[in-house]
Amino acid sequence: MFDKSLSRNKGSRSFSAVGTGDGHDLQYDPPPACIGNAIGIIDEPLRQRTADVPQPKKADAIRCAHFRNGSMAAMTAGIIERYAAYLPVTATTPRVTLGEGSTPLVRSSRIGPSIGIEQLYFKYEGLNPSGSFKDRGMAVATAKALEAGAQTLLCASTGNTSASASAYAARCGLRAVVVVPVGGIAAGKLAQALAYGATIVSVKSSFDAALKLVRQLADQPGVALVNSVNPFRIEGQKTGAFEIVEQLGHAPAQLFIPVGNGGNITAYWRGFGEIVMTAGGSAPRMHGAQAEGAAPLVRGRPVARPRTVASAIRIGNPASWAGAIAARDESGGTIESVSDAEIMAAHHRLAREEGLLVEPASAASVALLLRRTKARQVTEGGAIVCVLTGHGLKDPQALTRGLKMPRPVEPTLTAIRRALHA
Ligand SMILES: Cc1ncc(COP(=O)(O)O)c(C=O)c1O
Repeated sequence: MFDKSLSRNKGSRSFSAVGTGDGHDLQYDPPPACIGNAIGIIDEPLRQRTADVPQPKKADAIRCAHFRNGSMAAMTAGIIERYAAYLPVTATTPRVTLGEGSTPLVRSSRIGPSIGIEQLYFKYEGLNPSGSFKDRGMAVATAKALEAGAQTLLCASTGNTSASASAYAARCGLRAVVVVPVGGIAAGKLAQALAYGATIVSVKSSFDAALKLVRQLADQPGVALVNSVNPFRIEGQKTGAFEIVEQLGHAPAQLFIPVGNGGNITAYWRGFGEIVMTAGGSAPRMHGAQAEGAAPLVRGRPVARPRTVASAIRIGNPASWAGAIAARDESGGTIESVSDAEIMAAHHRLAREEGLLVEPASAASVALLLRRTKARQVTEGGAIVCVLTGHGLKDPQALTRGLKMPRPVEPTLTAIRRALHA
């Protein structure tokens, strides 16, 4: 549903090149003025400040949008089916899907109003099949791997790529080999890869060293490297931008997104660029959030020993460095760092004030928005979207950090009443 309504978006940023930074651009026709099946926004803003008031009809917004379009297919089709015309696929490329994409764009109920931002939205990518945005790119990368006759999906990972690659490999009867930094991956993600049946190699190194190693392993026959250096990953992930435009009816004025290896910011910028080239209007300012202890793009040089609570973005030498910088510079945006304390504060607020459970890396986008708002750097109007990249259940340790688990009590009313007043 890309149309001229894009031009309602205020701002002077015009678009010159699409994700040109990482040298993985593919040649195909940009999307025309209509794309995919429309999906909606979850929840118009709560007019009452009492967030406890039930809103049964409005909570159904996304489902109603599908039914209104008479398109049950839109609810179930994966991103290859929905966006085939705008992806590097042909009629014979397998339509690999686990139902990825079509994730909710949730309007902020309490954080936005508390910082004076009327139109704040969260793109809740944790609701993808394996719990992160990686599934969009993995669907396309797996389809292209199958098309090329591969039998093995190979990746290095801070966790989510391994979970996603393992899931898609299982789906397609392929072998998944995942190389992870020892101690550097959240428990839920490792459990996912194990459960999906992947072969896991835990290496005594950082993610950056692991990626270097798998790049060398990848030239064997029948092996497809599915890290975001694989151009099909970026292609699949750009569909997140397509969906945001469909859901809002126009591009947002600003997009906040966590940055680790730089692939996702590159992908979103490419997605917005393709829409703008087709429908005109302005692309959003892109604001990338790195963790303070793992901020090579902010410092302008690799970080030898990246450190942060946000293990998914604990990366010292991003593979899509140039793509991330291009997204920043071409959009007139920023890439900034936020502290672990700011990340965990945003994590807490998303859970307590919005009901959105995310992993720490995802909260970096909101932490940066909060930081910029406090410093009065968010001056222009228009919609702001924070991409919430991964689900909170992936990192149970982070979820319960600083929280006390309740002690069991006797099964009596007196004991429960006492516990409630404790
Ligand atoms: C949850 C989460 N958020 C953000 C990122 C960063 O994405 P990218 O590495 O594409 O910059 C990752 C990467 O693994 C991730 O898993």
